[in-house]
Amino acid sequence: MQKVTLNTLKEMKKQGSKIACLTAYDAAFARLLDKAGMDVILVGDSLGMVLHGEKTTLKVSMNDMIYHSRIVKSGCGRALIVGDMPFMSYASPAQALGNAARLMSEGGAEVVKLEGGAVVADIISHLDRHGVPVCAHLGLIPQSVHKLGGYHAQGLDQKSAKQILHDAKLLENAGASMLVLECVPHQLAGEVTGAISIPVIGIGAGALCDGQVLVLYDLLGITERQPRFSKIFLESETSILSAIEKYVDAVRTGEFPAAEHQF
Ligand code: KIV
Repeated sequence: MQKVTLNTLKEMKKQGSKIACLTAYDAAFARLLDKAGMDVILVGDSLGMVLHGEKTTLKVSMNDMIYHSRIVKSGCGRALIVGDMPFMSYASPAQALGNAARLMSEGGAEVVKLEGGAVVADIISHLDRHGVPVCAHLGLIPQSVHKLGGYHAQGLDQKSAKQILHDAKLLENAGASMLVLECVPHQLAGEVTGAISIPVIGIGAGALCDGQVLVLYDLLGITERQPRFSKIFLESETSILSAIEKYVDAVRTGEFPAAEHQF
């Protein structure tokens, strides 16, 4: 069992092997994801919605993220662990560094993820210079839900698509090691994926990304509303483990996402 690192993901991108990623928030599910051969486990701040029952991710605290990263880490041996930096935990470079250090040292995260475009470039540079690997997040950025006016696909017109492409290049140059691209047209996601050398993990961004991520509870069909870009893999399977294995296989073969899952 070879531990997945950022180098593994870089090599997978080079080879054209699709990267499978899913969220997890505890040791029991982390163990199942690891067993199913997941490459990346995202301890997402989506836990505020799927575990805590909130309408947004905004109430999630640094202590919440550290707690859930720590218990995911204790169930996981192979997958790379990416931990979300919660809302307003990275408003300045110094604040971001202090909180990222906690998420890594107390929570065991191996990469920290933060949302936003050009505005977070100097924060990413600062973290990168201090040896903190960063996953950027563009497109639909849920921590900005009120600014965006809801959870809608992004990059639908030429101007905003150009901005997303520009920001992806900027954040790679700033030192980001990976990128999550959420709810953008699949053609734009393909353009971004081809334009940068870091792995691009899509959610609602179509099949042309280097990998895919879903919220685990959506895949199990136990969330309140099923996003149209997701798929309930448990529907056709008899156990949670086989549903997760099916997802990994569908990502690897390119069977998921299909045309009906993309914008
Ligand atoms: O918090 C999360 O789970 C995420 C994914 C939706 C990409 O950021």
